[in-house]
Amino acid sequence: MKMKLFIVFCFALLIVVCVAVAYAQKAKSIRLLPPRLDNAKPLMQSLKERKSGREFSSQELPLAVLSDILWAANGINRPDSGRRTAPSAINMQEIDIYAAKADGLYLFDAKENALNLIIAQDLRALTGRQPFAADAPVNLIYVADLSKMSKLSEEDRNFYSATDTGFISENVYLYCAGAGLVTVVRGAVDRPALAKAMGLRTDQKIILAQTVGYPKQ
Ligand SMILES: Cc1cc2nc3c(=O)[nH]c(=O)nc-3n(C[C@H](O)[C@H](O)[C@H](O)COP(=O)(O)O)c2cc1C
Repeated sequence: MKMKLFIVFCFALLIVVCVAVAYAQKAKSIRLLPPRLDNAKPLMQSLKERKSGREFSSQELPLAVLSDILWAANGINRPDSGRRTAPSAINMQEIDIYAAKADGLYLFDAKENALNLIIAQDLRALTGRQPFAADAPVNLIYVADLSKMSKLSEEDRNFYSATDTGFISENVYLYCAGAGLVTVVRGAVDRPALAKAMGLRTDQKIILAQTVGYPKQ
């Protein structure tokens, strides 16, 4: 009888632990909103206004804006095939987008349209050599997952991860131009230091970073 009670107790404890773990995981994830398809200026106007800016307000970006930026960057625009707003060589979809915010480092999950917390630490200052990176609300970090490119030569891996990042970055530029946001893509990144702080694997390579925010008043 005692043994039976013990087994029931252990089983109940296991259920409680599983529910707690599932809840904790959910709490670490920001569910993004669907993109607002009519919220920015027309494309030709955005092209006219596209530019780099380096003066940012520290004001946080609302969830709807952050959601639009990430969808524009490399979200899924054809759910039946899982293809993205940005093209990628051989549809490798090898570029992951990390977002460094004041409350932590997140990884964009395009399939779930979510931002998953990776590290609950403010890494913004490490994402660039220019001081504005530390105060702007969001720094995107474009990281190539080289494990998805293992059949390619090193030259092709470097070439395609750079070109594929360029398309993503330009999508962000155009969204920002159309939505009144400031942005600049940045190659001036201390990659070894940032990769270490982000806990990247050796087969992950930082390509570029891109700061996004509201204009400084
Ligand atoms: C690959 C690449 C790397 C860049 N790196 C930096 C950078 O580290 N810091 C910066 O302030 N701007 C950087 N820029 C932005 C360029 O300086 C900017 O695009 C250029 O001066 C033209 O200005 P525009 O974007 O307003 O047309 C970079 C741009 C590209 C395409």
